[in-house]
Amino acid sequence: MSTKIAPSILSANFSILKEEIEDVIQGGADYIHIDVMDGHFVPNITFGPVVLSSIRPLTDATLDVHLMIEEPDRYIQEFADAGADIITVHVEACRHLHRTIHLIKEAGVKPGVVMNPATPVEMIKPILKDVELVLFMTVNPGFGGQVFIPEVLEKVQQAVKWREELGLAFEIEVDGGVNEMTAKQCIDAGVDVLVAGSAIFNEQDRQGAIDKIRNHE
Ligand code: DX5
Ligand code: ZN
Repeated sequence: MSTKIAPSILSANFSILKEEIEDVIQGGADYIHIDVMDGHFVPNITFGPVVLSSIRPLTDATLDVHLMIEEPDRYIQEFADAGADIITVHVEACRHLHRTIHLIKEAGVKPGVVMNPATPVEMIKPILKDVELVLFMTVNPGFGGQVFIPEVLEKVQQAVKWREELGLAFEIEVDGGVNEMTAKQCIDAGVDVLVAGSAIFNEQDRQGAIDKIRNHE
């Protein structure tokens, strides 16, 4: 199966967000990656459920909501009601990770878990059977346009092994610094979904940018 591409709207032009989303869908995007930041978990603020609910009617594409917020439990129902298909929470932000993952499931949304580059991969082993997506940050979260951290791919390889050993089916996604140069290493390591913000939205030709990331050779 070919690698899925999830354009991150963090690097889109928000004054024409509808056109930006339509453009990447037209260009072959599989998911739309939505970066929610609270100014506490990360040093940046973006948007919340209100913006998500105005994106929802624009597309049937999977809305992949990446919560970079403290105490995500408090907002899961609101993001579910706003139309999230996947909600991904940071292992570093969850005091009771199983509880949070189950709250997401109970809200009728696919649960995902995400970790920062310096967080050991063992932290997520106990939750793997409960999630549909594992996201590895390949930059420290907060901003678009940062440099890819290749050491994270060792964690991807470990997750691929565990998935096989445990007979599970979660998708593996990476986020941060993905472009046509770094995509190949990710795909070789076993990544299923590539998030890319600046490498897509900073290009005029979005279809061309998506194709270059997907078909790295
Ligand atoms: C970073 C966000 C990313 C960001 C990626 O905190 O989670 O989704 O938009 O941007 P690029 O692809 O430009 O590194
Ligand atoms: Zn993200």
